[in-house]
Amino acid sequence: MKSLLEGKHITICVTGGIAAYKAAALASFLKKKKAEVHIILTKNAARFVSAITFKSLTGNPVITKMFDSSSFIPHISIAQLSDLILVAPATANVIAKAANGIADDMVSTTLLSSTAPKIIVPAMNTAMYENPITQHNLKKLINFGFDVMEPDSGEMACGTSGKGRFPEINRIYGKIIQTLSAKQVTPLSNKKILITAGGTIEDIDPVRYISNRSSGQTAFAFAEAFIATGAKVHIIAGHVSERALDNFTSKFGTNDITMIRSAADMKKAVDENFEECDMLFMCAAVADYKPNYSNHKIKKADGSLSLELSRTEDILQNIKNDSNKIIVGFAAETDNIEEYALKKLEKKNLDFVIANKVCGNESAIGGECSSLILFAKDKKEQIIFPYLPKTENAFKVVEKIGELIKD
Ligand SMILES: Cc1cc2nc3c(=O)[nH]c(=O)nc-3n(C[C@H](O)[C@H](O)[C@H](O)COP(=O)(O)O)c2cc1C
Repeated sequence: MKSLLEGKHITICVTGGIAAYKAAALASFLKKKKAEVHIILTKNAARFVSAITFKSLTGNPVITKMFDSSSFIPHISIAQLSDLILVAPATANVIAKAANGIADDMVSTTLLSSTAPKIIVPAMNTAMYENPITQHNLKKLINFGFDVMEPDSGEMACGTSGKGRFPEINRIYGKIIQTLSAKQVTPLSNKKILITAGGTIEDIDPVRYISNRSSGQTAFAFAEAFIATGAKVHIIAGHVSERALDNFTSKFGTNDITMIRSAADMKKAVDENFEECDMLFMCAAVADYKPNYSNHKIKKADGSLSLELSRTEDILQNIKNDSNKIIVGFAAETDNIEEYALKKLEKKNLDFVIANKVCGNESAIGGECSSLILFAKDKKEQIIFPYLPKTENAFKVVEKIGELIKD
């Protein structure tokens, strides 16, 4: 599939901090995401990691000198070529230089001469980071339009503990996606998408519950695809797999996620946030039935036990869509997939329904892959997305929805 970073020229300015070796892992990660990665090393960075390492990882020549006769005015060409510049790790020294317009080496000159979006990834010991001079310089860079990442906290190379560590690569990747997507104009740019994720939990008694096998992977894959298309997401998540949640929050943090438990909680959260959104994307596997809750643990007895289940309130059926927001439903079916999906599209007055199969070899539930069919209101065609990783299909479906809502 076309990755968001495919063909994008990303320049990493590596400066002379102890975390310089981590820039090698970052370069390799971005290269695997199909970006064209360029490296500029400061003289001091080259004392920590050699240019050969970066050349081998990126397949591109590494720029170390300002006056290099082998390349045509390199600071201008790399500055113009770059879709994004990362300074990672950024020393206190280069931060001070960039904040004050100093251009005395290839890194600082490129930063001054490029109009590309720039992300600063500070990494240094806590005293250096918290020094008011560094903080002042970082604020100046923010005011000049740079994106500045907050370092991680923890044990430092110098043996102390505090803020100043190089962030995890996933978090840098999340920032790259947000920065690049903010620069492109798409039909979904700045649209607010309310996404429901995972399964709900319906309690039987204080220790038992009924739930389903939804992992939330589909919802998180769609959330990432929406973010990459320039939209803002708010996720209402029920019971989801830890791995799917960690994978999302390690990139984008936890600010945009509301955790809930039951179908009733999900309905309340959707109702409370619906007015704010431009699109409701109902991806969650919300329970259709709930048991009558017992305040006391149901005691084991001889013979079988019957549970009486009552209907939960249908979120989509009862939503008041007075301002014609776009509503997307999901139909997870074991059989008659198309027929049931189309019925849902009509009965619940949806703009789109996405059908997926939840049985057999290619079941979508709980796994990494799915095949999807997108049906749009008033459009006869069905768009089939074959069995692929959920992340790949999510990007394709979001792109298609963007095209269809534009028309
Ligand atoms: C062993 C060692 C580790 C260093 N680690 C850092 C660091 O993590 N962060 C930082 O801002 N400076 C660090 N410094 C200081 C920088 O290397 C120094 O400020 C240098 O001038 C930075 O040059 P540059 O910004 O041109 O790469 C370290 C210095 C040494 C000797």
